[in-house]
Amino acid sequence: MKTRMFASTGVFALAFVVAGLALSGCNNETPPADNAGSAGANSAGTAGTAGAGTPNIDKTSAGNASSGGTNSAGSAGTAGAGAPNIDKTGASAPPPAGKTFTIGMSQCNLGEPWRVQMNTDIDEAAKKHPEIKMIFKDAGNKSETQQSQMQEFIQQKVDLIIISPKESRPLTRPVGDAMDAGIPVIVLDRAIEGDKYTCFIGGDNKKIGMEAGKYMAKILNGKGDIIELQGLGTSTPAKDRHDGFMEGIKGTDIKIIFAADCKWLEPDAQKEMNSALSRFPKIDAVYGHNDPSAHGAYKAAEQEGKGREKTIKFIGIDALPTEGVKYVKDGILTATFQYPTGGPEAIETALKILNKQPFEKKIVLGTKRFTKDNVDKGGDPL
Ligand code: FRU
Repeated sequence: MKTRMFASTGVFALAFVVAGLALSGCNNETPPADNAGSAGANSAGTAGTAGAGTPNIDKTSAGNASSGGTNSAGSAGTAGAGAPNIDKTGASAPPPAGKTFTIGMSQCNLGEPWRVQMNTDIDEAAKKHPEIKMIFKDAGNKSETQQSQMQEFIQQKVDLIIISPKESRPLTRPVGDAMDAGIPVIVLDRAIEGDKYTCFIGGDNKKIGMEAGKYMAKILNGKGDIIELQGLGTSTPAKDRHDGFMEGIKGTDIKIIFAADCKWLEPDAQKEMNSALSRFPKIDAVYGHNDPSAHGAYKAAEQEGKGREKTIKFIGIDALPTEGVKYVKDGILTATFQYPTGGPEAIETALKILNKQPFEKKIVLGTKRFTKDNVDKGGDPL
């Protein structure tokens, strides 16, 4: 793992420091305990069976259903992309009565609540349409597994694939392969390279980063030393959330004194924050690229035992009702920014594609800011 140090205002020096052993225990490759079984069952029972049997729903998304509505609220706005795009790849004529559509969903991992919520949102939206049969697969945070899942879906001849890719480069080719096989692909949340896909749906990470930067500047009165706990560097939201944030704090005296790739994972963020705390006596705030990172940083400060969790301000992104929004209510985070899962929009768009109706090639989801002042009224849209 590389730890990046930023050491000046505005134009900052960048040095790479190999953090080494302290981070070797990070568990980003650990698949959630109960997923192996369901992935196996999914691949086994469904080959070529559109229209037969029962839907293959990943059981790991159960239990989080209660919070789905809030997360997807306020996310419908579309942007960009000009004229509607009629897809030519693989969508068949309207199905004869009784025909079903099989949709394969490859989720990069189910170790984080936000991704469990995405699956729940997709599942709930799909259940409103009896003609849809969902096959959920969890890649256990491994790009190679996700590559294989794409091949399995191609072999199964599913009608459409939804993928939320772990990393952009390794999943670009598999998405292209599905397109070549005539299977439309909706890419959700993290992008791939190029534009060989049917539709992309996701939040505006650059804007969210910029709003986080502007809010940071506001709460610090334009001056302070901060830590940036970044998402996985090989996934697009991490870069966009960083770039946007830098724009948001431009022209201020806010210095990023320590930054690290925490791979979106709370345990990694906690470890990185431990080392930041041991090196810097003065830390004014933490910008976590997601709520688990901001929360990991808070826990590290708490465990340090000097009370710094009360003086450092923590900002995160995601705003799940049961996670970031709750942390704001509990006074742990100063702010969190909503990052909708796009699950309902994915199903809505899948149906348009499959029924050969017009759809947008790029759908950008809105965001909201939650702070202690607005959390009880559901945040403020930005
Ligand atoms: C979950 C997650 C979210 C984050 C998103 C970015 O894996 O890390 O917390 O907002 O992915 O792709």
